Amino acid sequence: MSDLTNVLTPEHPILPHLTQRRSPRAYTAQPVSAEALQQLFTAAGSAASCFGEQPWRFIVGSKATSPEAYQKILGTLAEFNQAWVKSAPVLAIALAKTTFSHDSNPNAWATHDVGQAVATLAVQGVELGLQIHQMAGFSQEGARTAFSIPAGYNPVSVFTIGYPGDLDQLPEALREREMLPRVRKPLAEFMFEGGWPQPAEERYDQAPV
Ligand SMILES: Cc1cc2nc3c(=O)[nH]c(=O)nc-3n(C[C@H](O)[C@H](O)[C@H](O)COP(=O)(O)O)c2cc1C
Repeated sequence: MSDLTNVLTPEHPILPHLTQRRSPRAYTAQPVSAEALQQLFTAAGSAASCFGEQPWRFIVGSKATSPEAYQKILGTLAEFNQAWVKSAPVLAIALAKTTFSHDSNPNAWATHDVGQAVATLAVQGVELGLQIHQMAGFSQEGARTAFSIPAGYNPVSVFTIGYPGDLDQLPEALREREMLPRVRKPLAEFMFEGGWPQPAEERYDQAPV
């Protein structure tokens, strides 16, 4: 079932899945089936990547089927994330392989490509009624130690996976934050057709004659 909470109102029409994707802090107790997880991570794996390297890796911890891993991922999170994250039935760490496999050179685009994979997973999630919430607030070293992650792989982010739940289960401050209008920069602030925008006084085509 679609999650229609706090849907984004875009400046121009876009896919409904993109407007419905959001980062919830409250989840129902409903477990995420193995099949749904397979669909989500298959979607992640469909993303484009530099040299087709597919540098993404994911460690998944499910309350229902891999509770030890779930607890270990939870333990890597900053306190402010631990405070709300516990209702999520699944936690995952996104990691990047930092070198290219074909020549062992550093892959400067690895983190970019992991981001693309997670973004793709998030959109697939909307189709399945699932939402994710990505977090930078975690300890990379903690994750490395907890899972014996070898050199050459960097933990990039942690994210929840689950069915969005009742906002009433959140403390008031978080509940309010959850319903704040979802504001996005206007296109004019980040899409520069024709080149980098110049200050008006330096633009010969706008100078007074
Ligand atoms: C890389 C990344 C790191 C984030 N880190 C955190 C975090 O540590 N804690 C948190 O509550 N939200 C975190 N967020 C969620 C953002 O705050 C959220 O995506 C943003 O406010 C936009 O909201 P929306 O995803 O609902 O559109 C993170 C998001 C991304 C993409």
